[in-house]
Amino acid sequence: MRRKLAAGNWKMNGTGAALSELEKLAQTPATSQTDILICPPATLISRAADTLAGTAIALGGQDCHALESGAHTGDISAQMLADAGASMVILGHSERREDHGERDEDVRAKARAAIDGGLTAVICVGESLAEREAANTLDIIGGQLAGSIPDTATGENLVIAYEPIWAIGTGKVPTIAQIGEVHDFIRARLERRFGEGVGRSTRILYGGSVKPDNAAEIFSVPNVDGALVGGASLKAADFSAIIAALDAA
Ligand code: 13P
Repeated sequence: MRRKLAAGNWKMNGTGAALSELEKLAQTPATSQTDILICPPATLISRAADTLAGTAIALGGQDCHALESGAHTGDISAQMLADAGASMVILGHSERREDHGERDEDVRAKARAAIDGGLTAVICVGESLAEREAANTLDIIGGQLAGSIPDTATGENLVIAYEPIWAIGTGKVPTIAQIGEVHDFIRARLERRFGEGVGRSTRILYGGSVKPDNAAEIFSVPNVDGALVGGASLKAADFSAIIAALDAA
Protein backbone atom coordinates (compact mmCIF):
# COMPACT_ATOMS: atom_id res chain seq x y z
CA MET A 1 0.00 0.00 0.00
CA ARG A 2 2.98 2.34 0.37
CA ARG A 3 4.75 3.45 -2.78
CA LYS A 4 8.50 3.21 -2.55
CA LEU A 5 10.58 6.41 -2.58
CA ALA A 6 14.14 6.90 -3.77
CA ALA A 7 15.20 10.39 -2.64
CA GLY A 8 18.46 12.13 -3.48
CA ASN A 9 19.83 14.86 -1.23
CA TRP A 10 22.47 16.81 -3.13
CA LYS A 11 23.31 18.92 -0.04
CA MET A 12 25.54 21.90 -0.94
CA ASN A 13 26.70 20.35 -4.22
CA GLY A 14 25.94 21.29 -7.77
CA THR A 15 25.93 24.25 -10.13
CA GLY A 16 24.29 24.41 -13.54
CA ALA A 17 26.70 21.80 -14.90
CA ALA A 18 25.11 19.21 -12.61
CA LEU A 19 21.87 19.42 -14.58
CA SER A 20 23.46 17.02 -17.07
CA GLU A 21 23.18 14.32 -14.38
CA LEU A 22 19.44 15.00 -14.24
CA GLU A 23 19.23 14.64 -18.00
CA LYS A 24 20.83 11.22 -17.62
CA LEU A 25 18.59 10.33 -14.71
CA ALA A 26 15.56 11.26 -16.79
CA GLN A 27 16.51 8.35 -19.08
CA THR A 28 15.91 5.94 -16.16
CA PRO A 29 12.88 3.91 -17.20
CA ALA A 30 9.79 4.99 -15.24
CA THR A 31 8.84 2.39 -12.68
CA SER A 32 5.34 1.60 -11.59
CA GLN A 33 5.98 1.35 -7.87
CA THR A 34 8.90 3.66 -7.04
CA ASP A 35 8.71 7.44 -6.73
CA ILE A 36 11.91 9.37 -7.43
CA LEU A 37 12.82 12.65 -5.72
CA ILE A 38 15.85 14.89 -6.17
CA CYS A 39 16.57 17.67 -3.68
CA PRO A 40 19.18 19.90 -5.33
CA PRO A 41 20.43 23.19 -3.90
CA ALA A 42 17.59 25.73 -3.99
CA THR A 43 19.41 27.69 -6.71
CA LEU A 44 18.88 24.78 -9.12
CA ILE A 45 15.26 23.85 -8.42
CA SER A 46 13.64 25.90 -11.12
CA ARG A 47 16.17 24.92 -13.82
CA ALA A 48 15.89 21.31 -12.69
CA ALA A 49 12.12 21.57 -13.08
CA ASP A 50 12.64 22.59 -16.72
CA THR A 51 15.12 19.75 -17.25
CA LEU A 52 12.74 17.18 -15.73
CA ALA A 53 9.50 18.50 -17.30
CA GLY A 54 7.47 15.58 -18.62
CA THR A 55 9.23 13.03 -16.39
CA ALA A 56 7.91 11.50 -13.17
CA ILE A 57 10.94 12.70 -11.17
CA ALA A 58 9.90 15.07 -8.38
CA LEU A 59 11.94 17.90 -6.87
CA GLY A 60 12.38 18.99 -3.29
CA GLY A 61 14.08 21.60 -1.14
CA GLN A 62 16.55 20.88 1.67
CA ASP A 63 15.07 23.27 4.25
CA CYS A 64 12.39 25.95 4.54
CA HIS A 65 11.48 28.72 6.97
CA ALA A 66 8.54 28.41 9.32
CA LEU A 67 6.95 31.56 7.91
CA GLU A 68 5.54 32.31 4.47
CA SER A 69 7.42 35.58 3.89
CA GLY A 70 9.05 38.44 5.72
CA ALA A 71 12.30 39.97 6.92
CA HIS A 72 14.41 36.79 7.15
CA THR A 73 17.51 37.36 5.08
CA GLY A 74 18.81 34.26 3.38
CA ASP A 75 15.80 32.08 4.17
CA ILE A 76 13.38 30.41 1.79
CA SER A 77 9.69 29.71 2.43
CA ALA A 78 7.70 26.62 1.52
CA GLN A 79 5.67 28.74 -0.90
CA MET A 80 8.88 29.80 -2.69
CA LEU A 81 10.02 26.19 -3.01
CA ALA A 82 6.64 25.16 -4.39
CA ASP A 83 6.68 28.11 -6.80
CA ALA A 84 10.12 27.01 -8.06
CA GLY A 85 8.84 23.50 -8.77
CA ALA A 86 9.31 21.55 -5.53
CA SER A 87 6.70 19.19 -4.12
CA MET A 88 8.64 18.04 -1.07
CA VAL A 89 11.19 19.43 1.40
CA ILE A 90 13.75 17.74 3.65
CA LEU A 91 13.51 19.10 7.21
CA GLY A 92 15.56 18.57 10.34
CA HIS A 93 18.50 16.92 8.60
CA SER A 94 21.25 16.28 11.16
CA GLU A 95 23.48 18.74 9.28
CA ARG A 96 20.84 21.45 9.79
CA ARG A 97 20.36 20.45 13.42
CA GLU A 98 24.14 20.65 13.92
CA ASP A 99 25.18 23.57 11.68
CA HIS A 100 22.19 25.78 12.46
CA GLY A 101 21.14 24.64 15.92
CA GLU A 102 17.73 23.48 14.75
CA ARG A 103 15.75 21.93 17.59
CA ASP A 104 12.78 19.59 17.35
CA GLU A 105 10.37 22.48 17.87
CA ASP A 106 11.98 24.40 14.98
CA VAL A 107 11.66 21.37 12.73
CA ARG A 108 8.03 20.96 13.76
CA ALA A 109 7.24 24.62 12.92
CA LYS A 110 8.97 24.26 9.55
CA ALA A 111 7.12 21.02 8.84
CA ARG A 112 3.80 22.66 9.67
CA ALA A 113 4.66 25.49 7.28
CA ALA A 114 5.71 23.04 4.57
CA ILE A 115 2.45 21.11 4.85
CA ASP A 116 0.41 24.35 4.88
CA GLY A 117 2.31 25.36 1.75
CA GLY A 118 1.31 22.15 -0.02
CA LEU A 119 4.64 20.34 0.32
CA THR A 120 5.38 16.90 1.69
CA ALA A 121 7.75 17.15 4.69
CA VAL A 122 10.62 14.65 4.78
CA ILE A 123 11.52 14.81 8.47
CA CYS A 124 14.92 13.40 9.42
CA VAL A 125 15.73 11.69 12.72
CA GLY A 126 18.81 9.84 13.86
CA GLU A 127 21.15 9.16 16.74
CA SER A 128 24.83 10.04 17.19
CA LEU A 129 27.44 7.34 17.74
CA ALA A 130 27.68 8.24 21.43
CA GLU A 131 23.91 7.90 21.80
CA ARG A 132 23.94 4.48 20.11
CA GLU A 133 26.85 3.28 22.23
CA ALA A 134 24.99 4.40 25.35
CA ALA A 135 21.99 2.30 24.17
CA ASN A 136 19.87 5.45 23.88
CA THR A 137 18.95 5.13 20.22
CA LEU A 138 15.22 4.48 20.59
CA ASP A 139 14.80 7.15 23.28
CA ILE A 140 16.46 9.70 21.03
CA ILE A 141 14.41 8.72 17.99
CA GLY A 142 11.21 8.67 20.02
CA GLY A 143 11.89 12.18 21.31
CA GLN A 144 12.72 13.51 17.85
CA LEU A 145 9.54 12.01 16.39
CA ALA A 146 7.35 13.39 19.16
CA GLY A 147 8.92 16.85 18.95
CA SER A 148 9.43 17.25 15.21
CA ILE A 149 6.23 15.95 13.61
CA PRO A 150 3.30 18.39 13.53
CA ASP A 151 -0.23 17.24 14.35
CA THR A 152 -1.32 17.95 10.77
CA ALA A 153 0.80 15.09 9.37
CA THR A 154 -0.81 12.45 7.17
CA GLY A 155 0.51 9.55 5.12
CA GLU A 156 0.56 11.85 2.09
CA ASN A 157 2.26 14.93 3.51
CA LEU A 158 4.81 13.22 5.77
CA VAL A 159 7.83 11.02 5.09
CA ILE A 160 10.26 10.01 7.84
CA ALA A 161 13.96 9.48 7.10
CA TYR A 162 15.98 7.52 9.65
CA GLU A 163 19.58 8.69 9.27
CA PRO A 164 22.02 7.54 11.96
CA ILE A 165 24.47 10.45 12.14
CA TRP A 166 27.47 8.12 12.33
CA ALA A 167 26.46 6.48 9.03
CA ILE A 168 26.23 9.72 7.01
CA GLY A 169 29.09 10.09 4.57
CA THR A 170 31.23 7.58 6.47
CA GLY A 171 30.71 4.35 4.55
CA LYS A 172 29.53 2.78 7.84
CA VAL A 173 26.09 1.21 7.71
CA PRO A 174 24.09 -0.21 10.61
CA THR A 175 23.35 -3.91 10.56
CA ILE A 176 20.12 -5.11 9.02
CA ALA A 177 18.88 -5.87 12.54
CA GLN A 178 19.70 -2.35 13.73
CA ILE A 179 17.91 -0.74 10.78
CA GLY A 180 14.93 -3.05 11.25
CA GLU A 181 14.65 -2.30 14.95
CA VAL A 182 14.53 1.47 14.41
CA HIS A 183 12.15 1.32 11.43
CA ASP A 184 9.73 -0.96 13.32
CA PHE A 185 9.92 1.42 16.27
CA ILE A 186 9.16 4.45 14.07
CA ARG A 187 6.20 2.63 12.50
CA ALA A 188 4.84 1.74 15.94
CA ARG A 189 5.22 5.32 17.19
CA LEU A 190 3.42 6.71 14.11
CA GLU A 191 0.57 4.24 14.58
CA ARG A 192 0.30 5.05 18.28
CA ARG A 193 0.12 8.80 17.72
CA PHE A 194 -1.81 9.07 14.46
CA GLY A 195 -3.71 5.77 14.28
CA GLU A 196 -3.20 2.80 12.02
CA GLY A 197 -4.30 4.52 8.80
CA VAL A 198 -1.73 7.30 8.92
CA GLY A 199 0.85 5.15 10.69
CA ARG A 200 0.79 2.46 8.05
CA SER A 201 0.67 4.77 5.03
CA THR A 202 3.62 6.99 6.05
CA ARG A 203 6.81 6.11 4.25
CA ILE A 204 9.97 5.52 6.27
CA LEU A 205 13.29 5.92 4.45
CA TYR A 206 16.74 4.81 5.54
CA GLY A 207 19.66 7.19 4.91
CA GLY A 208 23.41 6.95 5.54
CA SER A 209 26.00 5.59 3.11
CA VAL A 210 23.44 3.93 0.81
CA LYS A 211 25.35 2.79 -2.29
CA PRO A 212 24.56 0.57 -5.29
CA ASP A 213 26.34 -2.36 -3.64
CA ASN A 214 24.48 -2.30 -0.30
CA ALA A 215 21.08 -1.03 -1.46
CA ALA A 216 19.41 -4.41 -2.09
CA GLU A 217 20.25 -5.68 1.39
CA ILE A 218 18.97 -2.50 3.05
CA PHE A 219 15.75 -2.59 1.00
CA SER A 220 15.09 -6.17 2.10
CA VAL A 221 14.39 -4.92 5.64
CA PRO A 222 10.69 -4.70 6.59
CA ASN A 223 9.40 -1.13 7.02
CA VAL A 224 12.19 0.29 4.85
CA ASP A 225 10.19 2.04 2.12
CA GLY A 226 13.13 3.60 0.34
CA ALA A 227 16.25 5.64 0.89
CA LEU A 228 17.47 9.18 1.38
CA VAL A 229 20.76 9.15 -0.51
CA GLY A 230 23.51 11.75 -0.27
CA GLY A 231 26.78 11.17 -2.12
CA ALA A 232 25.51 8.39 -4.39
CA SER A 233 22.67 10.59 -5.67
CA LEU A 234 25.11 12.99 -7.33
CA LYS A 235 25.90 10.56 -10.15
CA ALA A 236 22.96 9.41 -12.25
CA ALA A 237 24.52 5.97 -12.82
CA ASP A 238 24.81 5.28 -9.08
CA PHE A 239 21.40 6.66 -8.22
CA SER A 240 19.77 4.70 -11.07
CA ALA A 241 21.30 1.51 -9.70
CA ILE A 242 19.84 2.29 -6.26
CA ILE A 243 16.43 3.00 -7.83
CA ALA A 244 16.60 -0.34 -9.64
CA ALA A 245 17.45 -2.15 -6.41
CA LEU A 246 14.50 -0.49 -4.66
CA ASP A 247 12.16 -1.31 -7.49
CA ALA A 248 13.22 -4.96 -7.39
CA ALA A 249 12.90 -5.25 -3.58
P1 13P B 1 25.37 9.85 2.36
O1 13P B 1 24.50 8.97 1.47
O2 13P B 1 26.37 10.64 1.58
O3 13P B 1 25.93 9.08 3.50
O4 13P B 1 24.37 10.95 2.99
C1 13P B 1 23.21 10.55 3.59
C2 13P B 1 22.39 11.75 3.88
O5 13P B 1 22.71 12.54 4.75
C3 13P B 1 21.19 11.98 3.06
O6 13P B 1 20.40 12.99 3.57
